[in-house]
Amino acid sequence: MTERLEPTGRVRRYPFPFPADQYRYSANVAPAPGENPTAAGEWGGRVIDIDDDYLVELAERERILRADPTRKQVAPHMRPAIWDIITTLLPIMAADYPEVMAFQQDGPRCSWRNDLTGLELDFTVGDESTLPSDPLAFIGGQIQDDIAVLDEREGSLWLDAGLVTFAADWSMGFDVGMRFAEIHGPVPRIHEAGIASRAERFLMRLQPGEKYRRTNWTMTIDRRLDTSTETYPEWGRDRRLVLDDPAFADRVHLRTEVQHLIRLPETGAILFLVRTYLLSLSEIASVPEWRRRFGEVLRELPEDMAEYKGINRYRLRAAEWLLADAV
Ligand code: HEM
Repeated sequence: MTERLEPTGRVRRYPFPFPADQYRYSANVAPAPGENPTAAGEWGGRVIDIDDDYLVELAERERILRADPTRKQVAPHMRPAIWDIITTLLPIMAADYPEVMAFQQDGPRCSWRNDLTGLELDFTVGDESTLPSDPLAFIGGQIQDDIAVLDEREGSLWLDAGLVTFAADWSMGFDVGMRFAEIHGPVPRIHEAGIASRAERFLMRLQPGEKYRRTNWTMTIDRRLDTSTETYPEWGRDRRLVLDDPAFADRVHLRTEVQHLIRLPETGAILFLVRTYLLSLSEIASVPEWRRRFGEVLRELPEDMAEYKGINRYRLRAAEWLLADAV
C-alpha cells in the first residue's frame, strides 16, 4: 500500500500554474495579493514572498551581478522610479513580516531594518550616497524577485530599467530600451491572438498603487535560477543530456514565475516583478492531482509552444513519466 506523505514546505507553497488539463497563452491577470488554494496548500497571500531560500537566492543574485553587471540596467530618466520601488515595497514587506522587518518614513527620510540580512539603515530618498549600493542593487538585495521597470510614453510601455539575474531564456541587457510589443516579439501565438496588445493596454490603464499578478511557466534542468541568454553555454546542453540520466525525474523541474504588475504611485512607472519557483517532477508526483494534470498539459502542448519554451526534447518523456501509474 502506498502512503500519502505530508507535502514539504516547498510543495505546500508552490504556485502550481495549471487550472485545466490544456494550456494556452492568455493574459490571466488577477488582483494581488490574494491567497490561492491548491491541491497541496496555498500561495499568493503576500506580494513579496520570502521563503527558506531567501538568503541563498540573494547571494546567488549578488554573485551573478558581480560576474555580469549587464544584468542591471537603468536609463537615467528612470532613477526616480527606482526610489519609488524602494518606498513602495519596503513598507509592504515590513507590514507582512513585522517580526523581522521594520520601515519608517518621514518626508524623504526613511529607516529600514531587515533582521534576515542583518541590515539596519537610515537613508534619504533621492540621495544615493545614503544607501550601501546603488538604489536598484539595494532593492534587488532585499527581495527574491527579478525587477523590470517600464516607462509609459508615446502610447507604449518601454523597458527602461531592470535587475534580472534569473531570466528564463532571455536577456535584460538585450531587451532594455525595447517596447512591450518588441520584447514579446519572439513569443508565438500571442500577437495573432491580440493578447500582447490587450495586455499592454491593460497595463497602461492601471491606476497609481494598483497591483495585479499573473503566472507564467516553463521547465528547467536542475535548480538553476540563472537560465539567461548570457549563460546558455552552461545550461543549454543539459536539456539533451538529461534524457539519458537515471535521475531524470529529480533533475527536470517545472518552473513557475509569479509576476506582479504594479503602477508605482509617485512616478507612474510600471513595476514588473518576477518571482521564480522550481519543483522537480519527483516533488510534483507527491501530489496526485498535479502529477496527472502536468502530465496531460505536457502531452497536449502544441509543438510550437514547446519549442519556444525550449522543452521540446524532453517534454513527452516527462509526460510519460508523470502519467505512468497516475491516479
Ligand atoms: C509588464 C511587463 C512585462 C515584461 C517586461 C515582460 C517580459 C517578457 C519577456 C522578456 C519574455 C521572454 C521573451 C523572449 O523569449 O525573448 C516574456 C514572455 C512572455 N510574456 Fe511577458 N512581460 C511582461 C508582461 C506580460 C504580460 C502582462 C503578459 C500577458 C499576456 C505577458 C505574456 C508573456 C508570454 C505569454 C510570454 C511567453 C512565455 C513562455 O511561453 O515561456 N507578459 N515576457
